Amino acid sequence: MKNVRGRVVLITGAGGGIGRLMSLEFAKLGAKLVVVDKDGKAAEETASIARSLGVEARGFEVDVTDRPAILALREVIHRDFGRVAVLVNNAGVVFGGPLTKTPWERHKLTFDVNVFGVVAFTHAFLDDMVSEPEGHLVNIASASGFIGLPFGSTYAASKWAVIGFSESVRQELLTDGSAHVKVTTVCPSYIATGMFDGVKGPFLTPILKPQAIVDKVMAAVKNDRAWVLEPFMVKLTPFLRGVLPTSIFDWAGKLFGVSTSMMHWRGHNESPSVPKPSAGMSAASLPN
Ligand SMILES: NC(=O)c1ccc[n+]([C@@H]2O[C@H](COP(=O)([O-])OP(=O)(O)OC[C@H]3O[C@@H](n4cnc5c(N)ncnc54)[C@H](O)[C@@H]3O)[C@@H](O)[C@H]2O)c1
Repeated sequence: MKNVRGRVVLITGAGGGIGRLMSLEFAKLGAKLVVVDKDGKAAEETASIARSLGVEARGFEVDVTDRPAILALREVIHRDFGRVAVLVNNAGVVFGGPLTKTPWERHKLTFDVNVFGVVAFTHAFLDDMVSEPEGHLVNIASASGFIGLPFGSTYAASKWAVIGFSESVRQELLTDGSAHVKVTTVCPSYIATGMFDGVKGPFLTPILKPQAIVDKVMAAVKNDRAWVLEPFMVKLTPFLRGVLPTSIFDWAGKLFGVSTSMMHWRGHNESPSVPKPSAGMSAASLPN
């Protein structure tokens, strides 16, 4: 998408991490920003920084697992901003640990946020993008969507699902005459945002700087690229998994430290706790 000036850009999970950085890049390009996070204060902070760059921006407290809140948000966006031209499905959670030692609620929440959050936002806003002269859908998946991730199995599975969903929607748009809506699937390895604190980056796979991956995403949107796979080793991963016998691929995964990388995951929290589902879009975030 060549020009986002004056167009409505909606970003989930934009209260921090790469979601905030992407919001600010879109603000620099003159987009009208709708910033969503389950942490309403953080969303409003991002919006406030964006406004200081001279654009219209508003933060909303919305949990991506709360479909009624998403539909209420759509009404407010249509009333106050217009139709969404760019949707970035970025909100995500991760919980590391041995499969059976990890509480069931964490496995479920991972799918609810990482998969159904993406599906729900896309379901709610794809028609907006199709009705615009140009549209762009960005889905933040992960390099773990191409491989197995021991001690992060449900997270990896959720990202396999995002890749399958994103690629299917891309092809559906091409097939049904909506090729003016582009889709970018983003598959980075570990990024230094805190989400994966404690992990050990595999051999030849340096932990990415948040701004570096955001720059790649912005370039992909500008140039209508379908995929962002970073760093370089991630570009090779799908090919190697396809051609190598499983035993050799497993051996390489162990040698490179992929299969042990999550063993010491801590994430954002010193003492992780299962986040409570939010009550959805807060009254405070609704305009008067
Ligand atoms: N950090 C990494 O190493 C890494 C690697 C590959 C992919 N990713 C993906 O990139 C995306 C952004 O990750 P990040 O590193 O910036 O993480 P982050 O934890 O810094 O940011 C995630 C944001 O999502 C928000 N969020 C979480 N659950 C939500 C919900 N239910 N509803 C609304 N908002 C919610 C959080 O409040 C937070 O602001 C995620 O989808 C993540 O899976 C991250």
